[in-house]
Order: sequence, then C-alpha cells, then structure tokens
Amino acid sequence: MHSTNQTSTDRSKRLQMLRTPAVRIAPSILSADFTRLGEQIGMIEKANAQLLHLDIMDGHFVPNLSIGVPVVYSVRKCTDLFLDVHLMITDPLFYAEPFAKAGADLVTFHIEATPDPQRVIDRLRELNVGVGISLNPGTPADALAPILDKVDLVLVMTVWPGFGGQKFIEPMLEKIRAIAGQLRPDQRLEVDGGIAVHTIERAARAGADVFVAGSAVFDAADPSAEVARLQSLAQAAGKEG
Ligand code: DX5
Ligand code: ZN
Repeated sequence: MHSTNQTSTDRSKRLQMLRTPAVRIAPSILSADFTRLGEQIGMIEKANAQLLHLDIMDGHFVPNLSIGVPVVYSVRKCTDLFLDVHLMITDPLFYAEPFAKAGADLVTFHIEATPDPQRVIDRLRELNVGVGISLNPGTPADALAPILDKVDLVLVMTVWPGFGGQKFIEPMLEKIRAIAGQLRPDQRLEVDGGIAVHTIERAARAGADVFVAGSAVFDAADPSAEVARLQSLAQAAGKEG
C-alpha cells in the first residue's frame, strides 16, 4: 500500500482495465474493521482483488447509514485499487460530483432512486467516471432497456440493499442470465449480496463477472485465501458458462 497523487490518467487506466472481460472480486469494506481500514485495504491489495467496493448508504434509500465522501477521499489516498462506489442514496444526481472528486473510479447508482437515469449518466460522463446502474431485487431486467447500452456496468442486487451478511436470493439468477445475454464484451455484470463459496459458481454460470463479497471475505479466518478461492471458483464456473 502506498500514497500517490491520483490523476485522471490513473482513473482512465483503471477504467480501461474494467473494459476487458475477466472474473474480478470486489471486496466490500462494509464488513471491514473500520478502526483498521488502511491495514485491511492493504490486505485486499495483497490478495490480488482488483476492485474495492464502497457501500454508500443514506438512511433514506436504504434503512442504514454507512460511509460518505470523506471516507472515499481517504481511501483514494491510500490505494491504487479500482474504487467501485455503490450509491444506495436518494439523490445520485446531486452526489455524483462529490464522489467523483473524492476519487471514485466508477459510480453505480440505483435505477429506483431517480426519475431520470439518463441525466445521472450524462453527469457522471461529464465528470469522467465510470457509470454503473443497479437494480433492486424487485426491479425487472427490462427496466434497463432505455439505458443499457450507455453504462459500463450493471449491478444486480442479490439481496435487498442495506446490510451485509444476508442470504443470496436465488431467483435473481434468472435476471442475471437475462441481462448477461444483452451486454457487450466491454460491459461488466456485477452481483452484490450473499456472494460466498456456496453461491459464486451459480452467479458466474449465469453470466456475472464482477463479484462483490463483504462478509465472505472479511469474516473469513484468512481473507486473502478467501479472495483467491472465490476467484478460482468463479473462473472455473464462468468457463462452463
Ligand atoms: C448491501 C451492500 C453490499 C454488502 C454485501 O447492501 O450493497 O455490498 O456489503 O455484503 P455481503 O457480501 O456480506 O452480502
Ligand atoms: Zn454494494
């Protein structure tokens, strides 16, 4: 782990990385020990995870509060990992800029949180950050139709957002399959919620390629080994298709 002055070149390199199809694990720091956050991020780097998932909750869109702009800013200063910022907030248009300036590489917002997703996408493009769109378990895949070709990543929630450590919702596999069949090779399909060794293979077979894992990684006896294990299970299952 080291401090660098992050530039827009760093961000565009990281975004370029994400455009290449590959299996990637995105540990979610929601389950980290926040008193030792820098240390825990260093461990994630050593484990060769490619993304760091940051869950932003406002107590309105979801019934929980988590971290905000200053934490993203501090995390950006201590790592070169790809910062995958997941906004679970009611006003993504307003907060696009503060999170982009704090150092997000990609900002994912919820389609349920805005009447005009295209406007949020345009704002994020102006700010030169990657764009992700997320769907709650109750939102059908076809809600994405008008904007699917405009985003870098689709995030399918496999739990109701708000808390770590919930059980994977199996019927989401069908939604993953439906969306996977419509994406271009440069677009990623991320899953979030209940991803662990007993669920990751099914999600990978259904077509997901970025896997958020909070409790599975941070509650493991050996978090680094858990990242490797998740990665190899997903890689093998993804090849089976
Ligand atoms: C849930 C968050 C997740 C959470 C996942 O609302 O979006 O990213 O950290 O936690 P696990 O992997 O424990 O289900
Ligand atoms: Zn998340």
